[in-house]
Amino acid sequence: MKRVGIVGTGSYLPETVLSNFDLEKILDTNDEWITTRTGIRERRVAGKDEAASDLAKRASEKALADAGIAAEEIELIVMATVTPDTQCPAGANWLEAKLGAVNAVSFDVTAACTGFIFALSIAEQYIKNGIYRNALVVASEIMTRTLDWTNRETCILWGDGSGAAVIAEVGDGHRILSTHIHTDGASGDNLLLPGGGSKTTPISFESVEKKLHNLDMIGANQSVKVAVRRFAEACEEALLHNDLTLDDVKVIIPHQANIRILQGVAKRLNCSMDKLYLTIEKYGNISSATVPIALDEAVRDGTIQPGDLVLLTAFGGGLTWGSSLIRW
Ligand code: COA
Repeated sequence: MKRVGIVGTGSYLPETVLSNFDLEKILDTNDEWITTRTGIRERRVAGKDEAASDLAKRASEKALADAGIAAEEIELIVMATVTPDTQCPAGANWLEAKLGAVNAVSFDVTAACTGFIFALSIAEQYIKNGIYRNALVVASEIMTRTLDWTNRETCILWGDGSGAAVIAEVGDGHRILSTHIHTDGASGDNLLLPGGGSKTTPISFESVEKKLHNLDMIGANQSVKVAVRRFAEACEEALLHNDLTLDDVKVIIPHQANIRILQGVAKRLNCSMDKLYLTIEKYGNISSATVPIALDEAVRDGTIQPGDLVLLTAFGGGLTWGSSLIRW
């Protein structure tokens, strides 16, 4: 088995900022309610002409530059998204063309907010087994296009952005120690985006009127306790597998849906909130892109240093959850 490491990271956030105060103008809500219930103060919104692959291109170019690898050298692109440019072809294929990654095979992975860890896990196997020498793992989401902007319990939570990592065969040191992924399909109704799927097509006036093309979070709002439990289990699984403890970990990079979920996770893991790297205040929930964006920011601001142990963890619709433990 080859050793696999993250050799470059990058992220891209659209320029437009939508603050809680902006939301006050279109919804019966207020900054104080949103901040205390969710930890979110603002989020980014993609431009009208931007699709998921455009955001992914910007994040990927930074990750490739960081890795010192040219787009033509990339052999595999795995893109995590629930908001691809088109149902067919995959968002990753548009990205491959935009990057000029002419030697790469590309495909999408759908695992909602855990998407980046699923994509990482898949790409890692190809390199471990010697099939490809490197891969671009990217998560890109335009969640704001899925929202019903009259639903104040849902639309306040989400934002847009992309994060990427280049992974490759490495020598000693810096490497992915393990990835673990899980699914509970029976609870799939908890976070639902039915529109466009074969169950709701062809798109009709009725399906639009019933808001079947908007994100439905009724179950998700009721399953906060499940989220806390799964996040904590995923962290514990990674540590147990590697015979390590949380004290060995420098920083946890969690998916960020709600600050109160993360406070619950910290309590359950018996660790301080300082151990968790947070971006929720400025970006909200960017589904699969939250983890790689936070990872890139933690690398850029020096939170993550060579030799540090970094724990990625996520939970999301599907239901899906997982973790990845990385020696930086
Ligand atoms: N502004 C003001 N009031 C709001 C509001 C908003 N944006 N959204 C909901 N409310 C109101 C509700 O109508 C309700 O009013 P009522 O009591 O008169 O019926 C009340 O606030 C609910 O308050 P509370 O019970 O304290 O809210 P909560 O603690 O359940 O928090 C969410 C609501 C949406 C913040 C919370 O359920 C949440 O974060 N859900 C998302 C979970 C998630 O992301 N899961 C996926 C993990 S990947």
